[in-house]
Amino acid sequence: MSQNESPDQVTLTVAGNAVELPVQRGTLGNPCIEIAKLPKATGCFTYDPGFGATASCKSAITYIDGEEGVLLYRGYPIEQLAARSNFLEVAYLLMNGELPTQDEFARFESDVTHHTMMHEAFKSFIGGFRHDAHPMAMLVGMLGSMASFYHNTLDLDDPEQRRMAAIRLIAKVPTIAAACYRHSIGWPLRYPRNNLEYVERFLHMMFEVPAGPLELKPVAARALDLLFILHADHEQNASTSTVRLVGSTGANPYACVAAGVAALWGPAHGGANEAVLKMLAEIGDAKHVQSAVDRAKDKESGFRLMGFGHRVYKNFDPRATIIREMTHKVLDELGIDDPMLEVAMRLEEAALKDDYFVQRKLYPNVDFYSGIIYKALGIPTEMFTVMFAIARTAGWVSHWLEQQEDPEFRIGRPRQIYTGHATRDYPAK
Ligand code: SDX
Repeated sequence: MSQNESPDQVTLTVAGNAVELPVQRGTLGNPCIEIAKLPKATGCFTYDPGFGATASCKSAITYIDGEEGVLLYRGYPIEQLAARSNFLEVAYLLMNGELPTQDEFARFESDVTHHTMMHEAFKSFIGGFRHDAHPMAMLVGMLGSMASFYHNTLDLDDPEQRRMAAIRLIAKVPTIAAACYRHSIGWPLRYPRNNLEYVERFLHMMFEVPAGPLELKPVAARALDLLFILHADHEQNASTSTVRLVGSTGANPYACVAAGVAALWGPAHGGANEAVLKMLAEIGDAKHVQSAVDRAKDKESGFRLMGFGHRVYKNFDPRATIIREMTHKVLDELGIDDPMLEVAMRLEEAALKDDYFVQRKLYPNVDFYSGIIYKALGIPTEMFTVMFAIARTAGWVSHWLEQQEDPEFRIGRPRQIYTGHATRDYPAK
């Protein structure tokens, strides 16, 4: 049913009682039946495990049409932003709702550039992790601890303090991420260089070796900037919904984003990009592709094609289409012939011809090809989801800011279907 075909209200009859429920419409997308009064009027809750059919909030940030494979950031198609914008401009757009003027962008870029440093105490924090700590474990801990450095500027009723917290998170996550990587390889940490742009500054902090200057390849910065644009936001995905749920309790933004990082880590979500590379390595050769597809169809196997399927997209994930094209370009420009790309392409081809995947509308998602590019840029597999987190920080802080100003803001508190024991007495001794 389209927006304008939907009625203004629907009638639900429970045990002979008719209840009128209002229908809410947005600018685009599915109309929503407002059910807040259902328990009082009928004594019933609704049940929707995984919230596949439930709108948790109103938001003007990102729109997805899963059937058509459409993704809009503040109304701009992802294809146009990918072709013509840059990550920092997209971060501004997500946060503020409009593309920045030149002066607005200059101020935003200066604000971000001048907040990239970590407090020196972070060094001893990082030093406390084992060298083989997963960088996502380090990132969760470091971001959660950020509030301890800024406890004097956490008045969430002050819009400027909210804005600065968002700026600090966008600015410092790359610095912390690079520090996690340097710790894992035993290299000294690198301070952010203000004379470099956002992505180049991150690559410098990641790869600059003490022994000599880093040769930054333009194709690497361009590819990473584009991947950051594509990963910046995605409506009410699991990690963004986590940020909002934590934010609904009034927790500080650093705790909210740390919770978002924790949610993103799972292999069903942002951790899929790391899992895809491990899956492609396990398949090893195009000749084993069909057996992988067969395993993924066998429920008993517990094996899924990582990087395939999506809760919302029942068509191609538009980001996957862009990344697939970029993968070929980046590997060509870097002169890399990665056999994994061949395995990935054969796997995609086999799955998209197979009824199991076609019937379930399982297409490659954003995570299917991105790891091949990260690998080509020299980023280790364990850092792939950290890359996702750097980009998604822009979306997380934008949703947090939007939530803080939402007139319908209230603590999130879902209900349940209780399946435990009815009341029973403690046995007499
Ligand atoms: C991200 O939400 C977002 O927007 C997320 C994200 C973002 O930008 O924030 O887009 C980023 O998380 C992308 C998704 C990355 N995850 C993966 O690639 C992991 C592999 N994919 C799946 O686990 C799965 O597809 C999900 C988690 C992505 C979606 O799961 P759903 O919507 O709960 O789908 P489902 O598990 O109910 O599956 C429906 C059917 C099932 O079979 P039947 O019970 O109908 O027989 O499809 C099957 C599933 O078994 N299926 C798969 C499959 N994904 C779903 N079978 C094999 N391989 C897969 N990858």
